Amino acid sequence: MRLIAVVHHRHEEWVCALREAETRLEIRGFHPRGPLDDSWLAGAEGLFVWKVPEGLIARMPRLTWIQSAGAGVDHLLSDPSIPAALPITRADGQFGLWMARYTLVHLLAATQRIDECRETQRQRRWAPGLVPEDLTGQVALVLGFGRIGRQIGRALREIGLDVQGFVRTSRPDAEFPLHATRDLGAWLPRARVLVLCAPLTPETRGLVDANLLAAGHPRLVLVNVARGGLVVTADLLESLDAGRLERAVLDVFAEEPLPPDSPLWSHPKVVVTPHHSGPSTPRAMVPDVLENLRRFAEGQPVVCAVDRARGY
Ligand code: GLV
Repeated sequence: MRLIAVVHHRHEEWVCALREAETRLEIRGFHPRGPLDDSWLAGAEGLFVWKVPEGLIARMPRLTWIQSAGAGVDHLLSDPSIPAALPITRADGQFGLWMARYTLVHLLAATQRIDECRETQRQRRWAPGLVPEDLTGQVALVLGFGRIGRQIGRALREIGLDVQGFVRTSRPDAEFPLHATRDLGAWLPRARVLVLCAPLTPETRGLVDANLLAAGHPRLVLVNVARGGLVVTADLLESLDAGRLERAVLDVFAEEPLPPDSPLWSHPKVVVTPHHSGPSTPRAMVPDVLENLRRFAEGQPVVCAVDRARGY
């Protein structure tokens, strides 16, 4: 029987779900800060993990596969303790669905003028002038158009927006126009909303900077469900203050938890949420790893490993 270690703060839940999914493996769970069992780990060939605790990889000489407990693997790819040749697979579970809901609720809160309605309610004032904005035909840009981006794109299209996807290199697609990321700036002046759901790679780090934001529409709503590192925070704050965009809805930050002294907390045009746009529960994630669990149990190589050169 091959051994898989689950090192996760909710390891009990994951181990249960994984054992149920594949009975031909010995699966054991450990808390990332809890005691480890070195002799058992020395025989484990698979590792199911979010962030790798320091020194863990050195204790696993037989390791042949790392399964990420999430979609973004930037922190695993930049971890010097992980050998470059080790296959890492990722899982995005039902993030697309959740992030589509997240995007819609925050965009619609702005365009349905929810804050103002609450305020006039508080004042017991009937305000028929608070007319919702019609989003029909308005342009939505979605940066990163994998499974997650596509689902967000579909949801935005369903409520009437004209959705344009952005990927590394433009390609024909049956469902949506897909442009090269380098053309984002050219589209920005037309956009009502820009959703970031691309992986953090050397190419996307700091992509949303003063330069790009200068091209934006003053009514632009920026939604970031990807990684904080895609956005240069100082440039974003400056652009918000200069009236170059309407609102920034941020679920992810360069530093998490967001430090208490961050100006983002109190900025009137910023919505801060605690990295909750895509909950990574075993129920949502396990279907993504079934095929590789089966292959692993049968001694076959895992598939769909992250391409280190691309960064996702
Ligand atoms: C969460 O941020 C993930 O990448 O899964």
